[in-house]
Amino acid sequence: MATTAGTDLMYYFVIFVWFITALLVHFFIKSCLKTRSATQNPPSPPALPFIGHLHLIGSVLPKSFQTLARRYGPLMLIRMGASTCVVVSNAAIAKEIFKTQDLNFSSRPEFGSSEYFIYRGSRFVMAQYGDYWRFMKKLCMTKLLAVPQLDRSVNIRDEEIEKLVERVEKSSREGKPCDLSGELTTLTNNMICRMAMSTRCSGNENEAEEIHELMREFLELAGKLSIGDVLGPLKMLDFSGNGKKLLSALQRFDALVERIIEEHESKATEGGGEDQKKDLMDILLDTFRDPTAEVKLTKKDIKSFLLDIFMAGTDTSSAAMQWAMGHLINHPEIFKKLREEINSVVGPNRLVKESDISNLPYLRAVIKETLRLHPSAPLIIRECAEDCKVNGSIVKAKTRVLVNVYAIMRDPNSWTNPDEFVPERFLESSEERVGEHQMEFKGQNFRYLPFGSGRRVCAGASLAMLMMHPAIGSLVQRFDWKPKDGEKVDLKQGPGFATEMANPLVCYPVAP
Ligand code: HEM
Repeated sequence: MATTAGTDLMYYFVIFVWFITALLVHFFIKSCLKTRSATQNPPSPPALPFIGHLHLIGSVLPKSFQTLARRYGPLMLIRMGASTCVVVSNAAIAKEIFKTQDLNFSSRPEFGSSEYFIYRGSRFVMAQYGDYWRFMKKLCMTKLLAVPQLDRSVNIRDEEIEKLVERVEKSSREGKPCDLSGELTTLTNNMICRMAMSTRCSGNENEAEEIHELMREFLELAGKLSIGDVLGPLKMLDFSGNGKKLLSALQRFDALVERIIEEHESKATEGGGEDQKKDLMDILLDTFRDPTAEVKLTKKDIKSFLLDIFMAGTDTSSAAMQWAMGHLINHPEIFKKLREEINSVVGPNRLVKESDISNLPYLRAVIKETLRLHPSAPLIIRECAEDCKVNGSIVKAKTRVLVNVYAIMRDPNSWTNPDEFVPERFLESSEERVGEHQMEFKGQNFRYLPFGSGRRVCAGASLAMLMMHPAIGSLVQRFDWKPKDGEKVDLKQGPGFATEMANPLVCYPVAP
């Protein structure tokens, strides 16, 4: 009897333990699931210790991210050494970042080169969202880069295009190859230097060239130092000495611009400040002296702003023009169609002007298609201000966000034959109907984002378009082009963040 009672007791005890265990397991799993879904990071490829995903990333960053996104989805968490970011690769999520949650993604993060930056706290392009950035953006959009100021400087841009055509004509006459990459960078650099600080003030012809050289140095060094981001705190040791080199280049820039500020100030006291001739420096100095300005500008802010404009405007516009020429040379039928349009609208006796742009739809389509395939800033960099949800995943405050517009503008879900150069898709008659809203450059069409979108959209988009159309139009109107090496231009993309060509575009210009 006693044994049967003992067995029963044991039986109930086992059932009881089993019941409690099942209950605990149930609550454990439920609470685990709850915490996971509340902290769910965006999908991420398998990472290695220390290096994270570096082993999965090739030299052309936007292309590598595009390949990874095909496998891991349009929102990915990527870790490159000590640096973590979220990468966005489709139009729907870009809309979330640039429109639905624009305010939360309106800052930019600090980068590897920031600690060497003598203008720290005065930056505009890389500024955190706040009063200073808002003030400078308003100044850009209403004065510095607004239509009236652009209209005032039209002669500068016309003259620089004439000089470019003269230099190319010389190469053509002498049967020498022309380094179009160098020529187009000289063109944008000269245009922006003259619009910003008028070489008329200095009398020193080499100033634009000096600035050009300094920009080249900055971009190279800043690129190298950004790669140092993957080292985390170790980068402070500056093994390569690039930090010191960047500092020295910045000091040379500072001294040069300081001198130009003094020249502008003495011109202003002599009473030579006619409104029609005001350059960007004059407007900035007026704001500096304005006691009623919402934000009190300092000279450091002015120098930093000019540096930003040179860095943001020169190579971007030049790279886009190099790609445009490369594609036009490789597609003789498109080249011919464009020249026919120019000949019928402009005729043979003068160069293409800015006022012709509205009558040249095919030229506009060529430039749009170039920027679709080769956005000069292929990875748009933002930072998340507060924890939020994007596409169902949590993105934590301070996370760097890279919007891969290179991948978005080649997404087969948005574009027919996305990797092909087809300017016709931007004509009003096209079935793709991209051109119908004419909203692309304001970034309201989230499959087409060469200038970004939202509050931080490019401040120089209108200027860039004014520089590029007449320059490309004139080079097509006046010359036939033959690549220096081989039948076709090598359209390979260079390494890094930007979309430069891997090899400089060197061609023979021939009178048609
Ligand atoms: C083809 C030429 C150009 C391209 C493709 C381009 C593209 C871009 C992109 C993608 C951004 C970031 C936008 C975002 O975060 O949503 C940007 C920002 C900016 N760009 Fe451009 N850009 C070009 C030319 C220029 C020029 C000529 C200037 C002025 C001279 C300029 C001035 C700026 C400035 C000041 C910003 C920062 C705006 C801000 O943070 O609020 N850009 N650009």
